[in-house]
Amino acid sequence: MVVIGAPMYNFSIPSQLKSWIDRVAAVYRTFKYTENGPVGTAGGKKVVIASSRGGVYSTEQAQVMDFQEDYLRTVLGFLGVTDVEIIRAEAVNMGEDKRATAIHAAKDAISKLAI
Ligand SMILES: Cc1cc2nc3c(=O)[nH]c(=O)nc-3n(C[C@H](O)[C@H](O)[C@H](O)COP(=O)(O)O)c2cc1C
Repeated sequence: MVVIGAPMYNFSIPSQLKSWIDRVAAVYRTFKYTENGPVGTAGGKKVVIASSRGGVYSTEQAQVMDFQEDYLRTVLGFLGVTDVEIIRAEAVNMGEDKRATAIHAAKDAISKLAI
């Protein structure tokens, strides 16, 4: 199992995490091109993404600004990793109450993780 800590930075992911992905997503290592298109070769593992955001992006209107979770799902899928679970804490910078509620909900989701 791989756990990825992924705060949203400017609608996307931190550059440090991007650097890690650039090392991991490498042809012949974690994917290959076939006559039927690219095939991921890094499947067979579970990935848990600990996602946090200062604001809220899970609503229909704001989802278009989410280049964090969608991007991670896309790149992991490209590598063949389809067993991806997202634990999300959002609105963590929108006041103490919202932060506490978000962290409580995320901890609750962690306790329900089927590992
Ligand atoms: C450089 C930087 C960029 C950020 N960009 C966004 C953003 O685009 N949207 C957002 O909701 N929060 C943004 N945040 C807030 C972080 O996502 C939020 O603080 C994050 O969940 C980390 O949690 P922490 O503050 O508890 O460490 C940004 C934070 C930093 C430091």
